[in-house]
Amino acid sequence: MDFKDKLRHVMDFPKEGIDFIDITTVLQDSEAFRECMDTFKTLAEKMGDFDIIVGSESRGFIFGAPLAYHMNKGFVPVRKKGKLPYKTVREEYDLEYGTDVLEMHSDAIKPGQRVLIVDDLLATGGTTQANIRLVEQLGGEVAGVIFFIELMSLNGRDKLKGYKVDSIVKF
Ligand code: PRP
Ligand code: MG
Repeated sequence: MDFKDKLRHVMDFPKEGIDFIDITTVLQDSEAFRECMDTFKTLAEKMGDFDIIVGSESRGFIFGAPLAYHMNKGFVPVRKKGKLPYKTVREEYDLEYGTDVLEMHSDAIKPGQRVLIVDDLLATGGTTQANIRLVEQLGGEVAGVIFFIELMSLNGRDKLKGYKVDSIVKF
């Protein structure tokens, strides 16, 4: 299946000049969503052994949690600041204007555990870098990172040198 035919482009969202790639048209199509998750699984199997999947609020949850279920792994949610109830580790990351903070429960990953990171989109790579730092703060090892969509022109991969990175659709 060519997911490019299923993804919707919304021009000028969230502001003028942005060509927003909308994943909801894939999610609402049972066949497309199933094939997307099966493709995630195929790419995940190529990353070698891993113990647990990390996905970042909010669109990382949409792909990370079903992949964990599909592969019989646990799932760790990374959340925007102030949402997690227990003790957390935190990492700052860059937004277009300013910075924000992502958090993970401090007991979510055990030292030496191998972690697969999943998200919907690789743009600048800032979100993923923060996810990687959270995993490594807790002594986890990043087995790989998989995205549904990669925006090649933003060179996000440059920020992820030294890690295994794969994506399903490249623009
Ligand atoms: C979006 C997207 C990725 C991130 C990619 O998240 O879901 O997580 O941006 O951008 P980057 O590579 O430049 O960091 P965002 O936090 O904007 O929104 P969400 O809550 O809908 O996931
Ligand atoms: Mg996101």
